[in-house]
Formats: sequence, structure tokens, C-alpha cells
Amino acid sequence: MNPFELHIPTRIFYGKEKAGDYFEQLSSYGSKAMIVIGGGSVKKMGYLQEIQQHLDDNGINHILFEGIEANPHAQTINKAAETGKNENVDFMIALGGGSVMDASKAIAALIHDDLDDIWPYTVGGPKYRQMTGALPVCAIPTTAATASEVTAHAVISNPEVKGKSPVSYPFMKPAASWLNPAYHTSLPKTTTRDGASDILSHVFENYLLGGNDSDLADRYSEGVMETVLDTLPKLELDPENEHLRGQMLWASTMALNGMQIAGRNSAPFTLHNLEHALSGENHELAHGRGLAILYPAYFRWLHKHERAIDRMALLAKRLFGISDGDQKENAMSFITHFEGWLKQNHLYERLSDQGISSDVFGDVADYAIKTYGGGKDELAAAGPLTRDNIIEIFEMTEQQTPEAEMA
Ligand code: NZQ
Ligand code: ZN
Repeated sequence: MNPFELHIPTRIFYGKEKAGDYFEQLSSYGSKAMIVIGGGSVKKMGYLQEIQQHLDDNGINHILFEGIEANPHAQTINKAAETGKNENVDFMIALGGGSVMDASKAIAALIHDDLDDIWPYTVGGPKYRQMTGALPVCAIPTTAATASEVTAHAVISNPEVKGKSPVSYPFMKPAASWLNPAYHTSLPKTTTRDGASDILSHVFENYLLGGNDSDLADRYSEGVMETVLDTLPKLELDPENEHLRGQMLWASTMALNGMQIAGRNSAPFTLHNLEHALSGENHELAHGRGLAILYPAYFRWLHKHERAIDRMALLAKRLFGISDGDQKENAMSFITHFEGWLKQNHLYERLSDQGISSDVFGDVADYAIKTYGGGKDELAAAGPLTRDNIIEIFEMTEQQTPEAEMA
């Protein structure tokens, strides 16, 4: 095993029965909260009103900021921080998906440091890694996807520069998160599928490129993968099933809390670098959808260049019970079996299906390298990933004909 440091400070409450304990805990973060929500789904479903009632019952004052976009915009975050400063709030309550949770973390840091604009502090920005603290963030995730309820990251979009890039600090990890699967039964099918794809990516990234020094990290990650592979098709048939929603929600939290990589080598988050650049180009592209489009092409590209073959072969064995060929054949079997799962779950399509045409592939590759290349003129994926390689991967996605068109 490789040496590692792991600190998971978030107090996690799981289950709708834990509401009382959670809101009692929140009193310890101050007397005035800023509730942050997205475009209104939580209001329509009555979740917001429930939260407000809990806060009233616990004597916590609260204000509401609504209108955080999916792929949250820096400009909206800046506006919310100004409101929070004027209102002297003590802590944040993020009620929503990854976009709302990420926005809340960024707002909390802007308020703490009395700053006006989050964008310069993102990866690739001139003030990267210069923030000093954040107000406590309390998260109530309504998607099973990002694990933002336990992570140090806030991924910010900026339509003014067609950008998307994270701010990450240990002090942005939420103080307390309430995982209530009852708030997930309203999730649309597409958002559920996109979320499942994102969960898988969080365990795939390091599994493929981080080496084989931690058997436990492998088994742990495979457990998350198997749960997602098994649960998504069941949710397609039974979307209001709270037990299934809970499986997916807990899998999402477990997929990016640090345990999944402990003991392996640190490795680049290549799929995420590429996807963030893509949804920076088109802010309508959901993160998990972008990843799903990239998987087949990225895996096939790695296979063609004989990278991560042993790791993909191991996934063939562990996820699909395939071990009869040589390593390269088994690695390809992993890819084709996983593609089958993507097809079955309506996650197999092309970038052009999401409004990203080949005209912009070069620009997106340039953005990914400039933002995530760490000063080099390439990304990394068990070896260099050049601009031409990235464009090749994007072009390969165009071969992915959705099932609906093949029927
Ligand atoms: O805005 P509302 O009305 O709430 O609608 C949202 C949004 O349209 C809707 N939704 C959320 N919960 C719902 C619901 N609709 C019905 N019922 C519910 N219970 O779902 C849509 C998508 O929401 P969003 O928050 O954008 O999705 P997700 O959770 O996938 O978050 C994506 C963002 O998180 C970032 C992504 O890049 C993207 O910006 N990530 C954050 C990470 C982190 N903080 O560690 C890691 C990830 O890799 C990811 O990059
Ligand atoms: Zn992700």
C-alpha cells in the first residue's frame, strides 16, 4: 500500500428518521442560515418547506437564495455571496444536487474571505489556492451523483469565458450532511441515469490509472460499481422505491470520500478534466451525461494504446466474471460488456447528440490542457494525452450510435 492521509470530517446522517438529530446538530453552527436551492424542484416537491419548518422548530433564523443553475455560474454565486454578507449569515444549507452544494461551498468561502468573485480562485485561475476559509456548509443532497456532500470540491461554470473548473479546499468539506432517500424519489429518469454515470466515474478514474497497490481500494470500488450497475436498471422500473434510492445515494457518497483511492497511487482525473472542458463549452450538458459519452471512446483509446490493460482485465473478472481470454481480450470484454450496460440504460450516445459538434473539439481540447495540464502542453492518462489524442477520443464518440437509432 502507498502512504496516504485521509480526513473525512463530515458528520453524516442517513435516513428520513434522522431529521430531528440533523437539525439539532445545525444549531451548533450559528443562529442564521442561508438556504441555497436550484431552479425550483425542491420547492415544487415541498422539500424546502419541510426544511424551513425544521429550522423554525429549532429556533434557527433563515434566508433563502434560489436560482442556482445546473453547472452553477460564477456570476450567480457571486450574487449569492453578496446577499449572504449583507444578511450576516452564519452558515449555509445546501438543498439540491451537486450544483447547489458546490455553489454553497463557493458562497461560503467568498463570505468568509470577504471576496467578490469566485472565478479567479478556480484551477487555472490567477488566484488558485489562495482562499483561507469558509463558513460551515450543511448539505442535503437531492441527487445521487457527485458526493459533493462529503468532498472538498466546488465545480464552477463561467459562461463569459466558456469555462468550468473546480475550487478545492479541505475547509470546504461540508460540516454535516443529511442523506434522505425520500428526497430522491422525484428525480427524473435522465438525471438518475446521469448521476449513476458520475458515481461510476469517481471509482473508475483511480481504479484504472492508480496502480494495484491496494486490494481493499479495489474491492471497495468494485462494491460501489456493482451497486450502481445493479441498482440503476431496477430504478428504471421502480423510480419511487426509497430502498433503491438509498442504495444509489449511499453509493454516491462512498464513491468520492477518499476511501476509494486510499493506498493506490495518486492519478489524474482525466475523464473529469475532459468532461469539465466539454460542459464548459456547453453548460446545458449534464456532467454525468458527458462522462457516459466519453467512457466507450476513452476506454477504447486506452486499450488501443495498451494502457491500463491489466486494470480493465481485472474489472472484466470482478464485474462481469470474464477471465478466459488473455489480458488484452479480457480488457476488451470489460469494455464491450460495459457498453452493453450503457446502452441498456440509455447512456450511450454521441457528443453531437448533446449539441457539441466536431468544430469545437480543438477548442475544448485546448481548454482542458490549459486548465488541467499543470503548465504542460498535454494531459496525463498513464502516459501523455496530447491535444491530438483528446481530439481523437472526441471523434471516436461519434461512432457511438444510440440504441434508439439502431432499432
Ligand atoms: O435546479 P433544480 O430545480 O433543483 O433541478 C435540478 C437540476 O435541473 C434537478 N434536481 C435535483 N434534485 C432533484 C431534481 N429534480 C427533481 N427531484 C430532485 N430531487 O436535477 C438537475 C441537475 O442537478 P445538478 O445539481 O446540476 O446535478 P448533479 O448533482 O449531477 O451536479 C452536477 C454538478 O456537480 C459537479 C458537476 O461538474 C456539475 O457542475 N461535480 C461536483 C463534484 C464535487 N463537488 O465533488 C464532483 C463531480 O465530479 C462533479 O464534477
Ligand atoms: Zn464526477
